Amino acid sequence: MPPTTTAFFERTSFTNLQETFTAMETTSKMNGVVIDGYGGPEVLKHRSDVDVPTPGAKQILVKIKSAGINSVEGRVRQGLFLTSLFKPQSVMGVDGSGVVEQVGGEVTKFKPGDRVYVVCGRTGTYAEYTLANEDNLYLLHDKLSFNEGAVLPIPYFTAHRALVKRARIEKGESVLIQGASGQVGLACIQIARAFGATTIVGTAGTPEGRNLVMKQGADFAIDYRAEDYKDQMKTAFADKNIDVIIEMNCDTNIALDMDIIGEGGRIVIVGKKGEAKCDPSRLMLKEALMMGSGLRLATEEDRELIARDLYAGVEEGWLRPHINKVYSLEEAGTAHWEMENQRGALGKSIIAVE
Ligand SMILES: NC(=O)c1ccc[n+]([C@@H]2O[C@H](COP(=O)([O-])OP(=O)(O)OC[C@H]3O[C@@H](n4cnc5c(N)ncnc54)[C@H](OP(=O)(O)O)[C@@H]3O)[C@@H](O)[C@H]2O)c1
Repeated sequence: MPPTTTAFFERTSFTNLQETFTAMETTSKMNGVVIDGYGGPEVLKHRSDVDVPTPGAKQILVKIKSAGINSVEGRVRQGLFLTSLFKPQSVMGVDGSGVVEQVGGEVTKFKPGDRVYVVCGRTGTYAEYTLANEDNLYLLHDKLSFNEGAVLPIPYFTAHRALVKRARIEKGESVLIQGASGQVGLACIQIARAFGATTIVGTAGTPEGRNLVMKQGADFAIDYRAEDYKDQMKTAFADKNIDVIIEMNCDTNIALDMDIIGEGGRIVIVGKKGEAKCDPSRLMLKEALMMGSGLRLATEEDRELIARDLYAGVEEGWLRPHINKVYSLEEAGTAHWEMENQRGALGKSIIAVE
């Protein structure tokens, strides 16, 4: 198998990680948030004695300025996802932004001082330093702050993959984003518009969420709990074909999505909370497609392409990361508790490390 087709997370397997740690020397200590056994937000413990990793020949040590807080990290913390990478006592966090501190002898793409963001590196990002491979790291545009840079990785990469690689969105198409006020949803609005969608409708459960969805560039924002939800949808799309649905909550919405998707439309499943039940034959006469989208299968080439588009998006002005709330490292447990218990998503929150 060529290197570019190796699955994203497989290359950051725990076996590799162990080899890395065996090969490196621990030089000093740093502040970081570790998973003190799997469980609720209370297992996230701030420590001042976490080992600073030393990069191997092909690795980069990044001084983290801001770490992203992602919904997927709740499952990681509970030991339900990426358990081979995030063992108890590992540093939490899958993305963030910062400055290259040190590079291994075989690194060619980065040098100390580069402003970068990291997408699923070799060690966690809720810390002062993280380790990454060259293909987990991307240059951060000068126009973005480090806090804004920490909003980019997982949400924008996920949204781009769902819309561009999977749905193959085309100019002039109509898009419904189910769960548009969340971090992936907001990124979907900006990317759909940039790729030429003419009608963009987003759903959200709170007035604040719907306001944000409109501010981020949607044409309509609809309450997914409203009784006349389907009528509002018809009005919003003005009887146009719904070409693409990006679905963050497939368990609650998939039957409706299959009802309203237009002829030749594509439903892309990005997230779920529980088990979904549906009748796929409802797609038959519309020749509609239903497909999954998972960032873990993005190849190195796929991710390079996404990073290039995002960099151009900053340059062209359509990419505007929205920060919900800023926490400190000590507040990581609170941040997770709020993410899981407060009603009404408003985009991505981050941890300002420095
Ligand atoms: N496939 C991948 O590679 C990948 C990568 C990253 C994330 N994900 C998944 O993608 C999903 C979204 O992630 P996120 O980080 O954007 O989450 P998030 O920030 O928590 O946002 C969730 C969104 O879903 C909305 N929502 C909740 N219940 C809904 C319902 N019944 N119908 C319609 N919308 C509903 C929320 O609206 P209100 O809060 O306003 O109610 C909010 O807009 C999660 O399931 C996550 O695990 C997948």
